[in-house]
Formats: sequence, C-alpha cells, structure tokens
Amino acid sequence: MCGIIGYCGQEQAPALLLRGLKDLEYRGYDSAGLSVFAPTGLQIVKTAGRVADVEEKWDRQKPKGDIFCGIGHTRWATHGAPTERNAHPHRAGQVCIVHNGIIENADSLRAEFAAKGYPLLSDTDSEILAVLLDAAYARTGEALSAIRYARSRVVGSYACAALFSDQRDVVYAFRKDSPLIAAKTQIGNFLASDFFAVSRYGDRYMIPEEDEVVVLTKEELLICKENGERVVKPVYTVQPDSRDTGKGIFEHYMLKEIFDAPDAVRKTCEAYMRDGLPDFQAFDTQNLRFQASRIGIVACGTALNAGKLGRYFFETFAGLPVFCEIASEFRYYTPPLLPGDLLIFITQSGETADTLAAMREAKKQGVPTLAVVNTPNSAAAREADCVLYTHAGTETAVASTKAYIAQTALLYMLANEIAARKGRLTQAAVRENMRQLDSRLPVGMANILADCGTIQALSDVYCADNASCFFIGRGADYDLAEESALKLKEVSYIHCEAYAAGELKHGTIALIAPHVPVVAIASGERTYEKTVSNLREVRARGARVLLVTDRNPSAELATIADDVYTIPLRGDLFALCAAVFFQLFAYYGALRRGCDVDKPRNLAKSVTVE
Ligand code: F6R
Repeated sequence: MCGIIGYCGQEQAPALLLRGLKDLEYRGYDSAGLSVFAPTGLQIVKTAGRVADVEEKWDRQKPKGDIFCGIGHTRWATHGAPTERNAHPHRAGQVCIVHNGIIENADSLRAEFAAKGYPLLSDTDSEILAVLLDAAYARTGEALSAIRYARSRVVGSYACAALFSDQRDVVYAFRKDSPLIAAKTQIGNFLASDFFAVSRYGDRYMIPEEDEVVVLTKEELLICKENGERVVKPVYTVQPDSRDTGKGIFEHYMLKEIFDAPDAVRKTCEAYMRDGLPDFQAFDTQNLRFQASRIGIVACGTALNAGKLGRYFFETFAGLPVFCEIASEFRYYTPPLLPGDLLIFITQSGETADTLAAMREAKKQGVPTLAVVNTPNSAAAREADCVLYTHAGTETAVASTKAYIAQTALLYMLANEIAARKGRLTQAAVRENMRQLDSRLPVGMANILADCGTIQALSDVYCADNASCFFIGRGADYDLAEESALKLKEVSYIHCEAYAAGELKHGTIALIAPHVPVVAIASGERTYEKTVSNLREVRARGARVLLVTDRNPSAELATIADDVYTIPLRGDLFALCAAVFFQLFAYYGALRRGCDVDKPRNLAKSVTVE
C-alpha cells in the first residue's frame, strides 16, 4: 500500500527520501515520486514504475545546490491508473502533497473545484487535498488554517504530508485512520507511514493523533493542535525484534521468513509460557479471557485463516462457541453480538483498515476487544482493550508466512489456558500440549525446512504448467487448505480453491478433469479415512493428487495418490507444522513461474485503505 516519507534536516534530502522510499517498497506499489525544496523552488520528480526509476530520473534532472527538505511517496493505485500523471506528489498552486488513504467524497469536491476553474491534473482522489489546501492557503496564508479547512471538507482516510512553496524547508503532515509516525534523529526530522522508512537513523518515534499536525523544520519536530498549541507526545521505542534484519543468506524475504518459523514459535512461546504452562496473566488487565462465553474472531486474509485454525483450538480444547468473520464484512454487517462475547482481532501489521474499522464497531457496541498483533504500537495494539503480541519479528515479504505461524501458536496457547481454567483439560494435558508446541513443533518445522529440495521438486510438478489447483481437507486440515490455497494463488498467480473435502461433490467436482492438480490434506483420527475417500473420488476422475499427511499411507493408498508427503507429527499441531510445507510449496511454485515472489502483482503488505 502507499508509503510516505518526509524529511527536513542537515543532510541532502533527495538521497534520504529515495532511501526511505526503497525501505517502504515492501508495502507494495506501482508508481513513486518525490518533491523537494530545490534552490530554484519546489521541484517534483515522479514516474510509474519503481523507486529506482525515480532515482534515475532525479539523477538526470537534479539541480545544482543543497536540498534539505522534501516529501516522497510510493503509490498503490486505487483511484486512477498507475501512471506518471497519477503518481504523487500532486501540486495545486502553492501546495504540493503526498497522500495515503482514500478521500471518499473526492468526486463531488473535484466537480465543485473544477466548476470554480481549478485545473485538475490527475484522476486521483488525492489531488483534491492539494486543491483544498491551496484554496484555503491563498485566502489565509496560514498552513494550519488551510489544514483545518481541508480536513473539514474531506470524508475518508488520510495520512498527508504537504509543502507550501513559500515556506521553504518546512513539512506539514496530518492524518485520519491512516498510519503516520514522526521521528527526531541525529540527522534531522522525519515523518513516515511506518518506522521502517526511518529506522536506520534512530529507534524512537511519536504517533500524531487525528486532531494534530506534525511540523518538520531543520531544527525542530513539532506536534501541535490545529490552533498551534504544542502537544507533548509519548515517545515509542522500536523493539529490537521488529527491525528489518535484511534477507541474510536467502534469495528472497519470503524464503527467509519461512525459515524463521521455528524461531517465531519459540519466541511467542517464551513470551506466554511460564514453567511449562501458558501464562497470559500479565497481559490481561481486564480478565477478558475467562469471562467470555463466546468468541468472535475478526481479521482479513491470512490473519483470518489463522483465526479459523484458532477457532478449531478454542472449540476443541475449551468447548467455547466461536465465530469467524471477515473484517470488511463485519464492519458493515455486524452479526448480533451477545453479552459475554469477546472479540479477537488478528493482524500482523496492526494497521489493516478493515480490521481497525471492525474493532471500532465492536468497541462502539461495548464488546471487549483483544488484539493479536505482530507490530508493536500499531493502531490495533493501541486501540484494543487488551493486546497480545506475536513475536514473529518483522515480516517484509508481502505474503504472510511466519506471522501466521506465530498467530496460530499464540491462539493454541490461549485455547489451552482457557480450557485449563474451565476444567476441560487437566494441567498435565496442558503441560504436554505446551511441550509439543515448544519443542516438538519447531523440530518438525526444521525437518521440513531441511527437506526443501523435495518440496521444490513437488512444487515444480504441481505448479509449472497448471492454471488451477484445488486443496481439500476436513476440520483443521480444511483451515490449513484455505491458507495454503491463498498462499499459492497470491505468489504464483495460479487459480487456487480450497474446499472442505466432503463439499467437493456438491458442485466443484465438475471442475475435476484429467491432470487437474488436487492437494489433499489428511491428518488426525476423526476424518482421515473420509478425506482419503474424497481423494479417491478425484483420482477416479483423473486428477493428479498430492497427499500431505501425518502418517505413512497404506500400500494401496500410496499407489492411488500420485505423490505423498508425510509429516510425522500426529495431533492438533499437524496443521501448524504442515503450514511450513505449504509456504515452501507456494514459494517454489512462484519461483518456478518467474513471479516476483516478495512483491506479487497488485498486492500490498499493509492494506491501509478499505
Ligand atoms: C496474505 C496476506 C494478507 C494479510 C491481510 C491482513 O499473505 O498477507 O492476506 O494477511 O491483508 O493483514 P494484517 O495481518 O496485517 O491485518
């Protein structure tokens, strides 16, 4: 999703802005640009494509002389195609802006200002912010009152940084429902959509509230109210494990992050386990978890899939009724909420717009909210009644891998603790489950990682030339099938569908023709044989079948499935372990097809617009 950076200080701004934009590339984008106070005045350079293209263009056009201040942007197109004219910054009169978010009433505002004779030069919603600021600034000559006016006119979400052409070396910024941080460092003052863009210069940052304005000058980082009254802000420190540590020896971030899985489990266990038992006491200020008579899990994408596996754990261990809801649905079609409900919001970034909106809706209805978050001090962490951090470390590849593992591990622990409190599991049983989680699971994962050559060979067979792929399973295997299908489709662009194995014959089996790949996941005692019969059904129709299972299959089954991969971890943790297999399967599939693994087309890491 779009990224913003702003700088004012003693160093040359263009190089710092370009560096910051590169650090924001992981968010996903399709065009980029910057605007600086050049000796001759405001100068904009932007282009469709990569930050490297902007850099090249800047090198060709840069003026002589020092430049100490500017703003930069990576754009993920929402309104208007990813072209140079729609790339940010946008200029109107004396004002130049970059914007993240969506201005929902842009069409009517554009019509209003077009009728007044304002030239509109792009197809974006963002440009209207520049127009509004310029219109007000022309009247008052005051940046703060221009910001107040722009805010009063727009509906939607924004993090916006603005330069006013006659206020050399000053950057203004303001936000609503979109992330923005401000950081004072040794080399000057920064603002950015997230701290990765500035973390190489310092580890402390502030978060402006929605009625505040950030003002950067060379000397000062000021956060004030719209009337200019200075505000003293809490300063957050970046946690050591939330720094981007680079790709290391790996070719891609995605591969590195898949290899981080055992560590993500260990660190998350370390945080919530004492003496071999789960312990969430220190984090549970409102005793949320023990009072709940029903749990709702709300999230998007992979985080929602982690929640679905969590549902299985809560229901199986604790006997708690659980519903899972897509955040973008929940926010508008909130199901009836009951006294005794606890809503769990799962999010890696902590900044996903739909998840945040759903959480705000729940809070409005007075339901306790618990956030399971990977990014410290993110909006979800700040806004929820209670937060439990996963300790996966920074996730940079767009496709979520280790965060899913950490989320499911945390939910597993929480379900065990609730089950113990409710007397549904003995302390000995919980202790054994924790031992499995803490020691057997990371070992199981490490074995899969060590076998990546076999997985690459399998993935080559199933992904090289196929246009589609089906994943089937039952129970927790079905939850894993959903995540595995999502992972493969987002990075390899193969059309993937996940089905509850028993549901296939109610329609979708019509799509099973000779050689169509089907991945069957079969584990546990309850439904192993049932899934195997569904495997036989698709095999009888000529599908090419890969069976991923927790045991050595019978001799007969071994001849029916085209390929078998055994992960010898019996019990409820099989799905967590097998997730690593499927992440590698997706990674190698994407690699085989020549896809941009870390930055799949059209996708963004942190989906900060609705
Ligand atoms: C898929 C993926 C997305 C995210 C989703 C939620 O690999 O990364 O589906 O899981 O956009 O993001 P967070 O967890 O940041 O709320």
